[in-house]
Amino acid sequence: MSKILVMHGPNLNMLGTREPEIYGSTTLQDINEMLAQQAAEQGVETEFYQSNYEGGLIDMIQQAPAKGVDFIILNAGAFTHYSIALRDAIASVNVPVIEVHISNVHTREEFRHKSVIAPVVMGQILGFGTDSYSAAMYVAMKKIKAQR
Ligand code: DQA
Repeated sequence: MSKILVMHGPNLNMLGTREPEIYGSTTLQDINEMLAQQAAEQGVETEFYQSNYEGGLIDMIQQAPAKGVDFIILNAGAFTHYSIALRDAIASVNVPVIEVHISNVHTREEFRHKSVIAPVVMGQILGFGTDSYSAAMYVAMKKIKAQR
């Protein structure tokens, strides 16, 4: 069975109450449930992981190949903008990553305009609210099906 790992970085556990004018009122659990259902409908397995720690996210990426993960959907939160360690972890594994952001980072503060992970991911989907995640799931499943 194909498997998609959905990873959320720091502060995304606070979705629902965190700056709702930017991130909306949907909780992380709501997002994960929606994605699990979207994948299950296509016979794709999902695993979810959230961490406020860079190392936890890196460990998870490193373990992905051995776990048979076909695709990673990653919202790295603020780590996106400065974590070279996360970038190196993505580059070190042979698992495609789709970078996701809820907000349109390019309309926000300048420090959010740069993604240090962008050069090592397959592509970015951002600015569509929680639909950014469903769009990423759609793409990941389409790619997986094309490989079958
Ligand atoms: C975010 C954008 C980041 O700049 C921010 O640090 C986040 C969330 C988003 O989903 O819009 O934590 O990744």
